[in-house]
Amino acid sequence: MERWHKEAIVYQIYPKSFLDTNGDGIGDIRGIISKLDYLKELGVNAVWLSPCYPSPGDDNGYDISDYRGIAPEYGTLDDFKEMLDGMHSRGIKLLMDLVVNHTSDEHEWFIESRKSRDNPYRDYYIWRDPVDGHEPNEWVAAFGGSAWEFDEATGQYYLHLFSKKQPDLNWENPKVRQEIADMINYWLDMGVDGFRCDVINNISKDFTRPYAGGNGPRLHEFLHELHVRALEPHKALTVGETWGLTPAQALELTGEKRGELTMTFQFEHLLLGRVNGDKFDPEPLDKKAFVDILAKWEVGLKDDSYPVLVMENHDQPRALSRFGDLEYPYESATMLASMLYGMRGVGFIYQGQELGLHDPTFNSLDEYRDIETLNAYKELKESGRFTDGELLAKMQYGSRDCGRTPIPWTTEKHGGFTSGTPWIKTQVDSGFTVEEQERDEGSVLNFYRKMLKLRKSDACLKDGEFELLLNEDDTSVYTRTLDGETVYVVSRYASSECATPECIPENYTVLLNNYADFGKTLKPYQSVWLKKI
Ligand code: GLC
Ligand code: CA
Repeated sequence: MERWHKEAIVYQIYPKSFLDTNGDGIGDIRGIISKLDYLKELGVNAVWLSPCYPSPGDDNGYDISDYRGIAPEYGTLDDFKEMLDGMHSRGIKLLMDLVVNHTSDEHEWFIESRKSRDNPYRDYYIWRDPVDGHEPNEWVAAFGGSAWEFDEATGQYYLHLFSKKQPDLNWENPKVRQEIADMINYWLDMGVDGFRCDVINNISKDFTRPYAGGNGPRLHEFLHELHVRALEPHKALTVGETWGLTPAQALELTGEKRGELTMTFQFEHLLLGRVNGDKFDPEPLDKKAFVDILAKWEVGLKDDSYPVLVMENHDQPRALSRFGDLEYPYESATMLASMLYGMRGVGFIYQGQELGLHDPTFNSLDEYRDIETLNAYKELKESGRFTDGELLAKMQYGSRDCGRTPIPWTTEKHGGFTSGTPWIKTQVDSGFTVEEQERDEGSVLNFYRKMLKLRKSDACLKDGEFELLLNEDDTSVYTRTLDGETVYVVSRYASSECATPECIPENYTVLLNNYADFGKTLKPYQSVWLKKI
């Protein structure tokens, strides 16, 4: 069934850091409303909004205490509806964040659940007896420590794959599944267009495994049920956050006939530059692998799914700092964009990525806010293996806060993000504000605008078949082919020049180029889209 997703270019908004309009230092919905024209002009036609539901904020909103409300710090339900209307009138769809692996421990279901073993909400969560006076198994939580928390009141442990303020819902309980389907229908009935589904492959647990995680035996069944009860009747679009899948597993979740999710993110390339994927343990980036992995997913999903093209989100440091070259900020940021978004798939862009932002500098531990970073720091410090300087360097390399500092809109104090005290540090670097980049024809922002327009207007770029022709010595060439038309994407992934590869066609027109010329030599981080004639 044909969905609108093939046309989609999705912009992720992290509301806390987008734009503050009432001076409390926290971004808000009215801030988003005031920037809808900016989004339209950028050329995006969908927004994924990170959680804006009521939450104690242990994990910046990924710990929800009321699934049907709007957090007061972000505004009211009326503000939300006004934002949604404003998006729709500009041809922009809205994907909300669906966080249903866990709730906040301050959600009324959990407040009830922990009261007694026979409370009607007890089975909404996963409770287990101690085993020999210990945790029921060895599972470790994503934010450190055991995934089990002992609750004195009833003498049992509850499971939390993330922080102990994020108890996992018990999806084996049919009542839980019905509540979630009803809640999804509530937002879809209001006009929301779909969801980004947080850690969704964790909803069915596999307790036979020695490590915490999902892809449990009932995953497909649970998703199909949601599809039938809520998603399909509304033709909702879904994109699953699913770490650690193979392309074959992704196909099982997203294949046309499966009736589960529309798409899943693939993040394999985001594990590069990290020893065993550990974000606080740097290793040199393997640039060839970066391209090979993207190509592998293009090919792996080609027959029965639609890939997601992503290199930043609120859990990742900035792409320019990780995969680009700070000596060539414009060239490498635009090369990465050109190489990635020339591929087949839905392009996801994280707020500020369109400015080519690099990571802010964190000078001390108290500048960090992220629970994962603070817990990791504590654990690594206690290990006694690192000096304070080494620890800070690790946090600077991998912290999620690198991508969470506010958008620099103007050259004013705090980049015009707030008139008050921002909830997290702001960094405003000359040339990296929206205000400056809008004026500058040669800015990363204007490159993104041009690129996204092209992408939407060209059928071959939308759905053309992908083929990798070359990926060696820091140079790659791939094609996109549809109905006899071919686009070549040629990219130089290095700060040195090289001869333009010979596999490009003799006659072409240049659709996109991050340099003024294109000829016999590829310049540092040059990337071009060529259409064969
Ligand atoms: C996802 C979110 C992340 C959050 C976690 C727990 O990975 O993207 O920000 O901390 O799930 O909800
Ligand atoms: Ca505010």
